[in-house]
Amino acid sequence: MGMTQKISVFGTGYLGATHAAGMAELGHEVIGVDIDPAKIDLLSQGKVPFFEPGLPELIVKHVNSGALRFTTDPAEAAEFAGVHFIAVGTPQKRGSYSADMQFVDGLIETLAPMLTRPAVILGKSTVPVGTAARLAARVRELAPVGDDAQLGWNPEFLREGFAVEDTLNPDRLVVGVEKDRPGRVEAVAREVYATILARDTPFIVTDLATAELVKGSANAFLATKISFINAIAEICEATGADVVQLADALGHDDRIGRKFLGAGLGFGGGCLPKDIRAFQARAGELGLGKSLAFLSEVDAVNLRRRSHVVEMATRAVGGSLPGTTIAVLGAAFKPDSDDVRDSPALDVAGELHLGGATVRVYDPQAMRNAAVVQPTLTYADSVEDACRDADLVVVATEWQEFRKADPVALARVVAHPRVIDGRNCLPTQAWVDAGWSYSGMGRHAS
Ligand code: UGA
Repeated sequence: MGMTQKISVFGTGYLGATHAAGMAELGHEVIGVDIDPAKIDLLSQGKVPFFEPGLPELIVKHVNSGALRFTTDPAEAAEFAGVHFIAVGTPQKRGSYSADMQFVDGLIETLAPMLTRPAVILGKSTVPVGTAARLAARVRELAPVGDDAQLGWNPEFLREGFAVEDTLNPDRLVVGVEKDRPGRVEAVAREVYATILARDTPFIVTDLATAELVKGSANAFLATKISFINAIAEICEATGADVVQLADALGHDDRIGRKFLGAGLGFGGGCLPKDIRAFQARAGELGLGKSLAFLSEVDAVNLRRRSHVVEMATRAVGGSLPGTTIAVLGAAFKPDSDDVRDSPALDVAGELHLGGATVRVYDPQAMRNAAVVQPTLTYADSVEDACRDADLVVVATEWQEFRKADPVALARVVAHPRVIDGRNCLPTQAWVDAGWSYSGMGRHAS
């Protein structure tokens, strides 16, 4: 195993908090840094300000052991650590498709002038290609140690809901280094990830641009795969074919694979939607708009799923929403998450409400976040509470709790047993047997 490293992680959102805890679990001494004192306060007490299975336990474990601490003071981190991870956000810029780089840029402007000893900075945030080369030069310019402050790019592929598992057991590690002055970046990354590399995890060393592009391409591919099956779902809907059987059949071809062929309400969250837009914006800046033009179509197919479900719902309740009551099960952008950023579920709930329906939303974890974004919706305490007297039930996030809900019991509490399965996640036959009229996505109604 490698030697214990002193590590800082800047940014304590889903990515940074998980990475900080993960590095402590790998045996390092870690300091997490954030500008938000409330977040740092919670984390210092071993509390996690968002829902991520397994993360609170890991943070408590390492805060208690002393391997992990948190601060709002970047100088403390610069003084303590020799390896600094960038894990701050790159959200979509207001009024544009490009990524907002203010947090990454601001961090470099703060941290680099504090580097008085040799240090390696590893970027994890998703950034437009070309950013890392620019930052590496800026770090050299600002750091008192000059060329001994080196920057590499180490993109992160973790999924929310599986963040701990993905951090400790990644499919691969990618590290981009400056081609003409690779320096210590690769050696330091090998030390940091020694435990993971000892398990023969693929370790791919590239130039900076390739590392940045691996991440952008991975998310663009995943988004494209989802929109591909949703486009086919549209054809299935018009022809009476069944997209679930079709995806199963496609999936047996291991060149295609069944994963991410789940037709339904489409993708949301803090990554795929903004990443495909930022990727297109960057291609445009490079004069290569055509290369990624297909991503506009990927985006358009994805957004059409939401309006499609609103139309299905309107039809199901007789053509007009005012005066109807609709239960929306799910607010998070996917199960095992409390994240409602760009959530298809919450978008559908909001549209149905705007159309005049009384909408009652239930989600096992995301209701607090949902109420901030959509304060005018009604939030219910349970599945049953949401469904009481409803004219229609829409399943919008495939939580386990909804998959295993009892269709017989629910049929008794609703006004009309009609369900739209926006994630094709319910046991269809059981619901039909319990008297429900069932409509899935990309499959005919039963
Ligand atoms: C995504 C990527 O999967 C991660 O590899 C990446 O690290 C991360 O973005 C990031 O850039 O930080 P995440 O946003 O957590 O992870 O969510 P996914 O599991 O990819 O799901 C994205 C969306 O696609 C969800 O709304 C999900 O419901 C939807 N989806 C997924 C489908 O509609 N169908 C599918 O078959 C799969």
